[in-house]
Amino acid sequence: MADKMWAGRFSKEVDETVNAFNSSIAFDGRMYKHDIQGSIAHAQMLGKCGIISENDSKEIIEGLKSILEDIENGSLEFDMTAEDIHMFIEAELTKRLGDTGKRLHTSRSRNDQVALDIRLYLRDEIKELKELVLKLAEALCNMAKNHTETVMPGYTHLQRAQPVTFAHHLMAYVQMLLRDYGRLEDTAGRMNECPLGSCALAGTTYKIDRHMTAAALGFDAPMENSLDGVSDRDSCIELACAISFIMTHLSRFSEEIIMWCSWEFKFIELDDAYATGSSIMPQKKNPDVTELIRGKTGRVNGNLMTLLSMLKGLPLAYNKDMQEDKEAIFDSVDNVKLCLKTFIPMIETMKVNAENMRKAAAGGFINATDCADYLVKNGMPFRDAYKITGRLVAECIDRGLTLETLPLEDYKKLSELFDEDIYNAISLETCVKERKSYGGPAPECVMTQIENAVNKINRLK
Ligand code: ARG
Repeated sequence: MADKMWAGRFSKEVDETVNAFNSSIAFDGRMYKHDIQGSIAHAQMLGKCGIISENDSKEIIEGLKSILEDIENGSLEFDMTAEDIHMFIEAELTKRLGDTGKRLHTSRSRNDQVALDIRLYLRDEIKELKELVLKLAEALCNMAKNHTETVMPGYTHLQRAQPVTFAHHLMAYVQMLLRDYGRLEDTAGRMNECPLGSCALAGTTYKIDRHMTAAALGFDAPMENSLDGVSDRDSCIELACAISFIMTHLSRFSEEIIMWCSWEFKFIELDDAYATGSSIMPQKKNPDVTELIRGKTGRVNGNLMTLLSMLKGLPLAYNKDMQEDKEAIFDSVDNVKLCLKTFIPMIETMKVNAENMRKAAAGGFINATDCADYLVKNGMPFRDAYKITGRLVAECIDRGLTLETLPLEDYKKLSELFDEDIYNAISLETCVKERKSYGGPAPECVMTQIENAVNKINRLK
């Protein structure tokens, strides 16, 4: 078992089961780089402020760099009996430097150290996540460009409602993703204050320079209040929430893709590389990727609840409960990255069956609103026009017709306002092309949406 740095006060070794129970190195080991980065900034500051000698500071920094190198080249393995990554690295430093290594923890506590590490670690992860979100938004824009004329049914209550285009549908997701991006950016912005120097909870009597370490580590400022500095896990929760949003959007999209590649819809076909077969039914091609994304969304939402519940009863300042933050937030980060990385190429390679989309839009009286609007444009109040159109639809259903195939004389029976041009007014093309209101599905409107989104993405990249 690794030696305990706090052993002085104790007359017995810690029980082995307790040690394993207490230890977090199995999951916080992944923060080794950020732990070393933080320690280097701290050592530099201690030297510059004359709290340790410049020489010790230099030696410590060299020592930390060599530890980093050895971890990365595989020659230094974590001691899994160590309490956490912070203890492990400090113990290794002392092994290498003797007394000099023992000076690193002057005017610092694991409480501000862990608060710092998690911010540094998540800051890097957010950067990668932002890129992935933009990449997906970009892929959707590229796809949308080819489908501004691809008519498909728009649904409410999963009932065919009014015609839209596939591009219009895709661009709705781009809007969600751009908001997701904004949430990640906001989270990163609020998170970018440095807790280092809060020490255990009450700052320190040493003349440290917190502005120096904050700047060296790329933070905007040191955190204002040392109690808050070590107690805050808002940033983990905020990120978990932003990730839940991304997953919720991916999950809704996944649900649609699952439907769209069913035999009932057949709007799209997934590339063979992104679908799976059945062990018994030879005909099956299953959308497992999208189902897993939908499933993982539950798990990621669970992580958000874990974090909220972990924090809600904690008195200030540090409590060991907080160690539970890492597995939850790491799991959310790992899973959303995995999902995005699989989802993007799956979308890029899927085949769109424009013909089936159109066929689905052509049935189901998707142009009934346009029929009513025709009467309104010829002077009838909307509520009356609505009623008449309802009767026309009922009659068509009775006789196995559609609004397109119903003879003009039958239209005229219900209103004299109908004329030959009704057929043009209710054609799918007209229904889509004339929906030119801002944000609507008309090809020219969606082109504008695509241009705006592409410009925004390019500005953010
Ligand atoms: N492993 C701990 C955590 O993840 C580090 C901080 C421990 N501090 C303490 N006073 N026990 O939260």
